[in-house]
Amino acid sequence: PALTAYTTNVILTAASLCLLIPELSNPSVCMKDPQRVQDILHSMVKAGSNTLQVISDFDMTLTRFSHNGKRCPTCHNILDNSKVISADCKQQLDHLLHTYYPIEIDSSRSVEEKLPLMVEWWTKAHDLLVEQKIRKDLLAEAVSESEVMLREGFQLFFDHLHEHSIPLLIFSAGIGDILEEVIRQAGVFHSNVNVFSNYMDFDESGVLRAFKGELIHIYNKREGALLNTGHFQELRTRPNVLLMGDSLGDLSMADGVQDMENILKIGFLNDKVEERKRSYLDSYDIVLIKDETLEVPNAVLMHLTGNK
Ligand code: TMP
Ligand code: MG
Repeated sequence: PALTAYTTNVILTAASLCLLIPELSNPSVCMKDPQRVQDILHSMVKAGSNTLQVISDFDMTLTRFSHNGKRCPTCHNILDNSKVISADCKQQLDHLLHTYYPIEIDSSRSVEEKLPLMVEWWTKAHDLLVEQKIRKDLLAEAVSESEVMLREGFQLFFDHLHEHSIPLLIFSAGIGDILEEVIRQAGVFHSNVNVFSNYMDFDESGVLRAFKGELIHIYNKREGALLNTGHFQELRTRPNVLLMGDSLGDLSMADGVQDMENILKIGFLNDKVEERKRSYLDSYDIVLIKDETLEVPNAVLMHLTGNK
């Protein structure tokens, strides 16, 4: 059948985008509107990399979702599976995960419906962790013994941003102390990295007694962003944002950015692909389906910083 002018145009734009960034023709890449992606990239390149900031989620965005068919741990799971937790507590945390994770990724429920349930999950999990009287000095070992893996290409991602003095905000509903340890042990906790997350509060003998500040869960990143006005104020000369996430809740991570000019959103769709593909394509500019690497974000960054 004859192609409509619209379809022909979409195909031509996709082809010219792939000439600019060949990785965008990888089989994992899906875009609803390649023209929009091209326009945003064009504006961002024109503005220069000194106007760019990167905001990324952590679990299942910077870390792998699975490896050799086995699920990789989130920050919380690193503790759940470690020696710092009793067998009974592990069982209770596993039960929470099996109850609430299916709700987190259920595309038939609205965010309004999920929100109180997510607060319930995080609150119950944190209460259980506090009961375990976890020692600060055992966290590094819990991380090094875990099966957590940053996505392939992480070294280039972190090093490149650092070399170009591009600020990277890691905005996570995980556990700050654990995620910092993951990137420290990987040798990429550079000076351009800032973290918004749930941090542990230890007593004077180094035992966990609570979590600090306002709880960050999967659906309140907007509120978290708006609480941190100081950070975004400091970055006000960088109105162009590259956002990376794996949940629809991650889309609001940039809500605190001042006078935003352009935002390019890259979303990892790791699980329940068929049910969620439509909503991801509607909200993320570039969707990466079951892609365990940072190849595409890295290629976009190279393009934005003029490196090949
Ligand atoms: P993120 O914002 O860095 O992606 O972290 C949130 C993830 O943490 C989310 O996908 C659910 C996960 N999670 C667990 O794996 N176990 C838990 O006990 C809780 C509260 C969250
Ligand atoms: Mg995530």
